[in-house]
Amino acid sequence: MAVNRTPFIAGNWKMNLDHLQAIALVQKLAFALAEAKHDPADAEVAVFPPFTDLRSVQTLVDADRLPIAYGGQDVSSHDSGAYTGEISGAFLAKLGARYVIIGHSERRTLHAESDELVNAKVLAAQKHGIVPVLCVGETAEDLEAHGASAVPVAQLRRALEGVDPAKEIVVAYEPVWAIGSGQAATPEQAQQVGAALRAVLAEVLGPDVAASTRILYGGSVKSSNIASFLREPDVDGALVGGASLDVDEFSAIVRFKKHVGA
Ligand code: 13P
Repeated sequence: MAVNRTPFIAGNWKMNLDHLQAIALVQKLAFALAEAKHDPADAEVAVFPPFTDLRSVQTLVDADRLPIAYGGQDVSSHDSGAYTGEISGAFLAKLGARYVIIGHSERRTLHAESDELVNAKVLAAQKHGIVPVLCVGETAEDLEAHGASAVPVAQLRRALEGVDPAKEIVVAYEPVWAIGSGQAATPEQAQQVGAALRAVLAEVLGPDVAASTRILYGGSVKSSNIASFLREPDVDGALVGGASLDVDEFSAIVRFKKHVGA
């Protein structure tokens, strides 16, 4: 099967920007992309604002038909009911969310999310027609004890249990030690783990799905290092944290082809 993986540049805003600030950022981002004559075939752009911003982002994106997708930063494994504080995939779908981040290391560590819960959330998102951006990654201790691939591979295998190969998924490799540290992984490491993750996708979901599934790298991505990651055959985009809050920096990351000549 022909490999056709449009690079995917995703901004995870984490718990930053209220809905008015979200409108301002998305407007500026849309302006920057239009000014740069950004071609969506070069990179798909998505933002992941806090839940309280999603309705505002939807209104803006719909009104101006902006080439910016959006999604939630988490989803409940349940459809509805007595789950105070949780957000159903059905609600996200109703707001036009195309994607949802699942299993981010901040949720795995700060909210004790297990592989089992992550798997249930992947299934719940897909049930509602939302594409999971499934995060996996090793801590510094894991890296030391087991090398880079072992933990992400095990997390992916667990997360894919019962997943329908016909439903799209995006995988994000985010080494925990690289998140917010300014210390990105090397492109070689991202490639090594990306290839190992793609092998799991092939084994569990089949070779065609593996060939068409996008695998992102995340962890201290900036405009100055994005092209080096995207040169790797098994890195198809980036999940960007801090740098996604700066419109100039984020749009420079989206335009990775132009500004570094990748
Ligand atoms: P930074 O880009 O700030 O390192 O964050 C990465 C991340 O956690 C994206 O989900």
